[in-house]
Amino acid sequence: MAETKQIVLGITGSIAAYKAALLARLLLQDPEEGLSVWPVLTASAQRFIGPLTFSAICGRPAVTDMWSAAEGGEIGHVEIAHRGDLFVIAPCTADTIARLAMGRANDPVGAVALATRAPILIAPAMETGMWENAATQRNLSLLEERGVAVVEPGCGPLASGREGPGRMAEPEVIAEEVRAALTSKDLAGRRVLVTGGPTREAFDPVRFISNHSSGKMGYAVARMARRRGADVCLVSGPVALAPLPGVELVRVGSTQEMLAACRARIAASDVLVMAAAPADYRPVHFSAAKIKKTGRPGGLDVGLEATPDILQSLAAHEQSCCVVGFAAETQDLLSNAQAKLEAKHLDLIVANDLTRPDSGFGVDTNAVIMIEKGGAVSELPVMSKERVATEILNRVAARLARRE
Ligand code: PMT
Repeated sequence: MAETKQIVLGITGSIAAYKAALLARLLLQDPEEGLSVWPVLTASAQRFIGPLTFSAICGRPAVTDMWSAAEGGEIGHVEIAHRGDLFVIAPCTADTIARLAMGRANDPVGAVALATRAPILIAPAMETGMWENAATQRNLSLLEERGVAVVEPGCGPLASGREGPGRMAEPEVIAEEVRAALTSKDLAGRRVLVTGGPTREAFDPVRFISNHSSGKMGYAVARMARRRGADVCLVSGPVALAPLPGVELVRVGSTQEMLAACRARIAASDVLVMAAAPADYRPVHFSAAKIKKTGRPGGLDVGLEATPDILQSLAAHEQSCCVVGFAAETQDLLSNAQAKLEAKHLDLIVANDLTRPDSGFGVDTNAVIMIEKGGAVSELPVMSKERVATEILNRVAARLARRE
């Protein structure tokens, strides 16, 4: 269980206030992550959503004005301001931004913002005109100068029916920024290249061979590296996952394309984590026209040839880069992984058990054994792919520190 982090969630008067309930739920979805959320609502926020919603989701009474909590003997805004590790205001209206810039403290959100020593992160939500107004932009600049982090609003349909910038960032994006803000930056200044997902090898315009990789493991490594302050580039095969905020995404199709994308970036990278499952074989011939089913009573023979091994061709030449590979195995997990560690010149190999239903392709969890160059072996219990990523990055950070 991680050390508990206290997040104070300020909600102000915007139609996007309903999305703050989803944000609270996202932050609390994994009890082992150890996050607590303390909701604080302005009077205007309560015109859009009831405090009971937040009390129920967060498991504690919401602070709704400057006085009632203290009178009831509950924890009020001043105490919450001192407890918080992070103060998040989502949605944050134009008026709230103006009041924060002025240092006003006559509502509970403003009072917490003024009293807290914790970092502040705001997710603005407003009409396009208000967002683009020079006064709002000036106030935002003032807040940013004081160290307030801003999750930029997106462009899209607004409450007025119009479209434009000002729509609050999606709760998933804000939740990621909250987690990043709470993570210590031990990989700051490091460039991390990650691969994820499968590759596809086409034999005509409509058919290809591939594998079951969903990209979840690679995306988890990229997400966690970025949270730790790294400059992350994710080379991704075709997957159904959303791009990660703050991570450079390079989309590729085939193993050859993944090799080219990695080759172009490896020299500038401090770390390579190959979590992708590149196709090992490709059809010898590609037919420009769709291969017809008719007239082939004996079926179709597709001759296959080996694709390039990305790790092998990169790792041997990049002595300065810390290289992590995976070994996806259905048998002899340890000995196969050990052999790949040596053959592919790796610093660390993550031996991945594909025989368990809660490990490997597609699922959110993984069962792995980590083998480091030099001999250290650790068998980890089944855990989320985010936690596996954290374990990998802990070892990477330690190896990088030893090299200095
Ligand atoms: O994407 P998910 O659904 O989350 O699933 C995660 C995963 C099972 C794909 C991942 O955890 C994993 O094990 N990835 C490696 C899959 C694989 O290709 O394993 P391998 O043992 O065949 O290859 C060994 C290493 O060489 C891997 O790091 C692989 O990325 C790399 N490789 C493989 C083939 C190739 N042509 N070039 C390579 O560099």
